[in-house]
Amino acid sequence: MTDPVYVTDALIAEDIDAYLASHEQKSLLRFITCGSVDDGKSTLIGRLLYDSKMIFEDQLAALEADSKRVGTQGGEIDFALLVDGLAAEREQGITIDVAYRFFTTGKRKFIVADTPGHEQYTRNMVTGASTADLAVILIDARKGVLTQTRRHSFLAHLLGIRHIVLAVNKMDLVGYDKGVFERILLAYRAFASEIGITDFTAIPISGFKGDNITALSPNTPWFKGPALIEHLETVDLGARVEEAKPFRMPVQWVNRPNLDFRGFSGQVAGGRIAPGDAVRILPSGKTTTVGRIVTMDGDLDEAVAGQSVTLTLADEVDCSRGDVIAAADAPPEAADQFEATLVWMADEAMIPGRAYWLKLGAQSVSATVQAPKYEINVNTLDHLAAKTLDLNGIGVVELSTDRPIVFEAYAENRALGGFILIDKLTNATVGAGMLHFSLRRAQNVHWQASDISREARADLKNQKAALLWFTGLSGSGKSTIANLVEKKLFRMNRHSFLLDGDNVRHGLNKDLGFTEADRIENIRRVGEVAKLMTDAGLIVITAFISPFKAEREMVRAMLPEGEFLEIFIDTPLEEAERRDVKGLYKKARSGQLKNFTGIDSPYEAPENPEIRIDTTTMTAEAAADLIIDRLLG
Ligand code: ADX
Repeated sequence: MTDPVYVTDALIAEDIDAYLASHEQKSLLRFITCGSVDDGKSTLIGRLLYDSKMIFEDQLAALEADSKRVGTQGGEIDFALLVDGLAAEREQGITIDVAYRFFTTGKRKFIVADTPGHEQYTRNMVTGASTADLAVILIDARKGVLTQTRRHSFLAHLLGIRHIVLAVNKMDLVGYDKGVFERILLAYRAFASEIGITDFTAIPISGFKGDNITALSPNTPWFKGPALIEHLETVDLGARVEEAKPFRMPVQWVNRPNLDFRGFSGQVAGGRIAPGDAVRILPSGKTTTVGRIVTMDGDLDEAVAGQSVTLTLADEVDCSRGDVIAAADAPPEAADQFEATLVWMADEAMIPGRAYWLKLGAQSVSATVQAPKYEINVNTLDHLAAKTLDLNGIGVVELSTDRPIVFEAYAENRALGGFILIDKLTNATVGAGMLHFSLRRAQNVHWQASDISREARADLKNQKAALLWFTGLSGSGKSTIANLVEKKLFRMNRHSFLLDGDNVRHGLNKDLGFTEADRIENIRRVGEVAKLMTDAGLIVITAFISPFKAEREMVRAMLPEGEFLEIFIDTPLEEAERRDVKGLYKKARSGQLKNFTGIDSPYEAPENPEIRIDTTTMTAEAAADLIIDRLLG
């Protein structure tokens, strides 16, 4: 599956380089248009491109021909055909959810993110909006403020877009009536203040006829301006506010062309920096000073928020990709537990407790998300109880990472507060989120270091700790073989302990059933307990179906390299079902037992287990011997 975030980012990086080079001196405004084709979004974008002469000659000729063929009123050019045509082209090739278009005027250059406005395309809007400075919210003058207007506004505000333009479109179809415009304005203002939008600019337009796009229209003498393009050209991008913040620069890569030069490259995410300034490297906390600020065009005396630069440091301190260089006296926090708003972007619902990759800038860690505190209905803004988030669901969640990350609240700094979640198996982007704050719990609960090491505990028992993780279908023979292994180890004076699915489910995990989420929690707890037992120096044996790869890998990652041995008890379903030791397959087939592994709940077989036992060709005795050989040999 193509990852929308990466695809668009890669495209944008390439295009921007070429594009920026030709308009170096002008400021850049990134904006997003929200609305559906029915609201005239394509027409408006087409119009902006046309008026700024960014349509190539051949496209224009084709457009005129198409418009004639389709037969627009008065033979005018139908700009929607242009944008929709490009969209169709793009759909044939790669999966790309957001199209970025470039245009420029005398005063400024623009990148507009064009996102499909459809109800189920929240995720596209999130992708497009995450870098936008401004959102144009389109309203059809005949329809007024709709549910989707609320959703678009809520998302734009949530994603930290500071400037909102309410473009009341199709004014030509309501006779350029001032009353219509003012009623819409009033309705929108009431809603906007509810969600915290205090400021917006409303403009009556006709994308089709061109009213109030480049210049004020004689058709709306009651409207005093500004026209849309004039507003886009002059809106204050808040650069000064960003530059006044403390200095931060996430390190994108370490530039080391030869032994004499080591520079740290990235985009300044806040504040300003000059040679000689004291900086702190996070998360290590080491301090040093900036040597040079290097760019392609020579050294700078100063760099400010938004600029991409390479810094050299006065001392040989450790600093690598993913670290953050910050003002020494005002560093951002590092933490491993957070509250965040999460937008779910995958067809498959979020799974509380499962580990996903979390990417925040160049930092990449493993993260688990808990069931939402609440879900937000973006149409009504109600808070709803929820166990998970489905595609396009938005909720407030708590999440924890396997090691601390350097961050700032998204509201303070989008670069250090915005993250994406990636599925570990498919590599698809499944969520995007905004950090609110770290949880105090994370700061106040410290790992208690014990004076007796885990090695010392194992040494005392004359052994090395290990976790023998059995996995396989119900009735595959896990418990039988695991039992034999334990008996043999016992006779060899080894200290072991067997955790068995059926037993643990009577005690520690008696609150859990067999849904996907419950099985994940089952394995998480067993993994934690098994880990503590290996810390105590034991050889731990577990016998759980543990049907999901992701959780088996999660347990593997909890232990030191080499201590986790995955043992796949490979008994085909037909064989396990034929044996049906507990009569459960029969019940499952007759529908009396739901979510039964292999029948109506999946089993993901290990691809590279340390040991694979084929029970159709090997006795339990032989299997146990093989496992012990492998463990002790
Ligand atoms: S796991 O999927 O969460 O790893 P676990 O190994 O703890 O499962 O428990 C599996 C045992 O529970 C089975 O051997 C069987 O005896 C019993 N069981 C009861 N209901 C189910 C079910 N729906 N699916 C699988 N096993 C079930």
